[in-house]
Amino acid sequence: MRRLLSIPPLSLALVACVTGSSPAQTEHDMSSHFDAAAVVHMAVVHGDLTGVREPGRWLAEHSPPNLPEGTEAYVAELQKYARRAADARNLEDAAYATGRIAQACGACHREYAGGPVPVLPPAADEGPDMAAHMVRHAWAVKRMWEGLVVPSDDAWMAGAQALEETPLQSEETLAENAENTEEVDYLAKRCHGLGSRAQLVAGPSARARIYGELIATCADCHELTGRDVAVVW
Ligand code: HEC
Ligand code: HEC
Repeated sequence: MRRLLSIPPLSLALVACVTGSSPAQTEHDMSSHFDAAAVVHMAVVHGDLTGVREPGRWLAEHSPPNLPEGTEAYVAELQKYARRAADARNLEDAAYATGRIAQACGACHREYAGGPVPVLPPAADEGPDMAAHMVRHAWAVKRMWEGLVVPSDDAWMAGAQALEETPLQSEETLAENAENTEEVDYLAKRCHGLGSRAQLVAGPSARARIYGELIATCADCHELTGRDVAVVW
């Protein structure tokens, strides 16, 4: 399980998915599931619905090999939501399905793989500009993802707190300068509000739902502001 926490952000499997070459060529082990799920997640945050389809389909069609007996129901759950993400007609549905995918990973790990204690990487410093602010958002969301997938309460709470703590000034400036001021402002507030709410909910199902709402909010604002968020994480 340590792999989950130390996996390099841009592994070969990830490149295979991103560049559109067949992910089936990648080694067929749990780490390719991890990579495909990470690509789904990344595409949603970027507001790229098309980018969700291929890795989503791949996840829906491949079972992790050498699983312990009795895990079929978890695999089925994972594949159901992977299919839903792949077929989603809008980012909100894809985001929701992504939360459920992470929940399914976590459910099986909790039952069969034992829970590792995640080592939290230090959070990025809060810089003055929007890009630095967003790097911190990305850090927070990644911790929440681990919170679901590992699963880990500590990772979930660390991510949620970082999201809540993050100051709003740069987003306010963005809102003032944007054409759709009110909508951008709303999305920024919603994003931080979800960080607060995330700390109040326990249980994988409620957390997966909040997670879906959260990454849908990231996606909405990136779509709205037309920003390319070409960051690999
Ligand atoms: C049906 C059960 C099941 C599901 C579903 C599942 N896993 Fe796993 N996972 C396991 C088991 C069992 C291990 C431990 C394997 C071992 O130690 O050899 C594991 C280990 C891992 C590891 C660390 C070992 C490695 O091979 O790198 C990662 C990373 C991982 N899972 C990611 C994921 C992700 C991401 C998902 C969801 C997309 C997922 N898993 C879904 C059962 C599952
Ligand atoms: C209120 C609007 C808004 C919300 C909400 C938002 N973003 Fe962004 N995001 C932006 C803008 C604008 C940029 C471009 C920043 C720049 O290039 O200066 C950006 C850029 C990024 C980048 C690229 C940063 C870089 O180094 O260039 C990442 C990563 C990112 N966002 C992640 C997230 C995540 C994760 C969330 C959700 C938790 C999120 N964002 C929510 C507006 C938003």
